Amino acid sequence: MARVNENYLKLKAGYLFPEIGRRVKAFADANPDAKLIRLGIGDVTEPLVPAVTRAFHSGIDALGKAETFHGYGPEQGYEWLINTIIEKAYNPLGVELKTKEVFVSDGSKCDSANILDIFDLSNKVAICDPVYPVYNDTNVMVGRSGEADEQGYYEGIVYMPCTLENDFTPALPTEKVDIIYLCYPNNPTGIAATKEQLKVWVDFAIANEAVILFDAAYEAFISEPDIPHSIYEIEGAKQCAIEFRSFSKTAGFTGVRCGLTVVPEDLMAKTASGENISLNTLWNRRQSTKFNGVSYPVQKAAAAVYSDYGLEQVKKVVAYYMENARLIREGLQGAGITCFGGVNAPYIWLKTPGNLGSWEFFDKLLQECHVVGTPGSGFGPSGEGYFRLSAFGSRENVEEAIKRFLSKWGNK
Ligand code: MLT
Repeated sequence: MARVNENYLKLKAGYLFPEIGRRVKAFADANPDAKLIRLGIGDVTEPLVPAVTRAFHSGIDALGKAETFHGYGPEQGYEWLINTIIEKAYNPLGVELKTKEVFVSDGSKCDSANILDIFDLSNKVAICDPVYPVYNDTNVMVGRSGEADEQGYYEGIVYMPCTLENDFTPALPTEKVDIIYLCYPNNPTGIAATKEQLKVWVDFAIANEAVILFDAAYEAFISEPDIPHSIYEIEGAKQCAIEFRSFSKTAGFTGVRCGLTVVPEDLMAKTASGENISLNTLWNRRQSTKFNGVSYPVQKAAAAVYSDYGLEQVKKVVAYYMENARLIREGLQGAGITCFGGVNAPYIWLKTPGNLGSWEFFDKLLQECHVVGTPGSGFGPSGEGYFRLSAFGSRENVEEAIKRFLSKWGNK
């Protein structure tokens, strides 16, 4: 009989968001009249903007005519999209990239998992705690860890706690690590990193010949002027960092699927015999073999995000969500609830009222207020006692959710 990849059996729980979905469904089935407000998974709620839908339609129309039909596209993405991304998203930051350094994909979740294909299993990985669960679970799946301990820490993975005591900013690892995951603005804490903070990581990575996997999926939500949008704004980063970006939250593509990964040509890693190998070449080889590119209409839609109309329209949607974030943050803070984030990210990270456990609070909020959030402990042991609310939702729902929340926990 075929054997399974037993690394999967080491995973402690189901993936966080389906687990939340199961609990919410059970509640909704038992309480069909409850008006649920979902501020759990960071899924967008506003429709695609008109500039995007127009381009999407035109892409589909092109596929319907022999003279404009497109079959397989380049696995790396169409050059017209890549060059637009470089010109509109990176050049204004002072970052120059070559076309071959940018790879268009079906999303940064997949890329941040698939990137592990090009790294040896012996690499020591460092991740934040709490963290976007994909970084942890995919390393367990490929066999880079042992079993989890009682707290949920997997043997062999280096965890960098992000707690109130360190302002949710991880300290540099004290042991040798080879791959470091950073996500800024951060999911789940909503905290952003300054240039000075990222410079420390870049210097550390260069000094230790480590690679930073930098997830910038939420860069569009940065509102403070000095916060970097890309790790490549930091000198030296092209020697040590891979960056992931996404159209999901920036432009409402969670269901459309499009993201990108930047692998600079200068970025090298070693073979067992000490030879330097270009990670760009390996990633290109991986993508060419395992991926057939993003569909033509989706890439047309993605390019439209950078048109003048597109930029203006998506900025308005981002501002709408960030106003939600402000309302949640200020509403909770005004009522004495300790919370973080929500300024440069669409997530508010709050201390659970009454020191409830994260899942305990999740159940209470669901059952008593009919509001869905995400338990902090689902992002890692250091998230225990915290809770994440997402700013993705209609204004009406967000206002109603705050009202319900405060009716139970205001000024306590
Ligand atoms: C989240 O809620 O953390 C995100 O929606 C997950 C994701 O982007 O995959």
